[in-house]
Amino acid sequence: MNGSLEGVAVAGGAPASVIVGIGAYVPPNPVTNHDLTARLDTSDEWIRTRTGISSRHMVLPGQATSDLAVEAGRRALESAGPEHAEGVDAVVLATATPDRACPATAPEVASRLGLGTVAAFDVSAVCSGFLYGLATATGLIAAGTAGRVLLIAADAFTTLVDPHDRATAVIFADGAGAVVLRAGEPDEPGAVGRVVLGSDGSLSGLLQVPGGGSRQRSLGEPVKPGDEFLRMAGRDTYRHAVGRMTEASRQAVQAAGWGLADIDRLAAHQANARILATVADDLGIPEDRRLSNIAHNGNTVAASIPLLLADATADGSLAAGHRVLLTAFGAGLAWGAATVLWPDVKPG
Ligand code: UT7
Repeated sequence: MNGSLEGVAVAGGAPASVIVGIGAYVPPNPVTNHDLTARLDTSDEWIRTRTGISSRHMVLPGQATSDLAVEAGRRALESAGPEHAEGVDAVVLATATPDRACPATAPEVASRLGLGTVAAFDVSAVCSGFLYGLATATGLIAAGTAGRVLLIAADAFTTLVDPHDRATAVIFADGAGAVVLRAGEPDEPGAVGRVVLGSDGSLSGLLQVPGGGSRQRSLGEPVKPGDEFLRMAGRDTYRHAVGRMTEASRQAVQAAGWGLADIDRLAAHQANARILATVADDLGIPEDRRLSNIAHNGNTVAASIPLLLADATADGSLAAGHRVLLTAFGAGLAWGAATVLWPDVKPG
């Protein structure tokens, strides 16, 4: 460890985690709804009204998750400044689309970022990846294993989507977001509250890529046509998403000792604008407190929340001192929620 626990009062409890930097990256060249209508039986009107999406970004041929992660990570380190960047002890990469089946992508990302031989590993929780990664990073800091963690959430999820499946091809997109966390005090700006997590593997069939894993490979047969792509039962997923995000959000807000009326900004996983509206309505969070960038980013899976936080910080809709509620839901099924007292940070 690089000694960044120095000066942190740990007497009577483990150190809290504090966000000190943020960065995000999406591939160039937006793909509009009109672009998709050239190859799919869909319309701009259907996509906008049913999902809230107008355009999204997709990886260029040959571009991998690590390429997105390195760029977002570099920007987050820049945002944190050398004082924090040089003390990073660990890199946690939340992704469902590692560059290869083995090994994890995080060590390569750490190396390309010039972070040397720090601890680096992947966390796989699909759309809830950022929150599972946040729980992991804050746990590393609380245990004293790391003093500063670079948490990156990145996905090239369109590589798992059947380009001819209109139900998924219009929603999913690619991108990366990252935060730098350091050990600190629970009541200082940037402090992350308790991360609430949950899962229900009995419903893993609602959203999955059936082929490519050990179950298929142990058969010694090639992947069945179509099994290399994501299958999603959209309507059922939708229903579970609303209930789980609402419930986890209430628990996270309670754990922080806040009330729902205290929430200045809701930063929910950008799955579908209608899901977000229902979750916010159920929680009683007014429209002017809901952050959204789904219109031009689509559903970027693990990257969704940090991309949203970076965009909102850049355009001023999220500011220092705001009490922020984060929540996500996705394949697994897995979900989560957390609170953050937003710090004075500028995206790198
Ligand atoms: O990231 C976390 C996990 N994912 C989610 O949370 C996604 C959750 N689900 C959703 O966002 C929505 O269910 C979808 C956007 C995927 C679909 O919207 P929906 O309002 O639930 O539509 P639906 O699946 O009930 O389908 C309604 C109709 C169907 O036609 P019929 O059977 O009524 O004639 C679909 O075939 O819309 C049709 N449809 C489309 N039409 C035009 C489905 N996709 C499209 C499309 N363009 N892209």
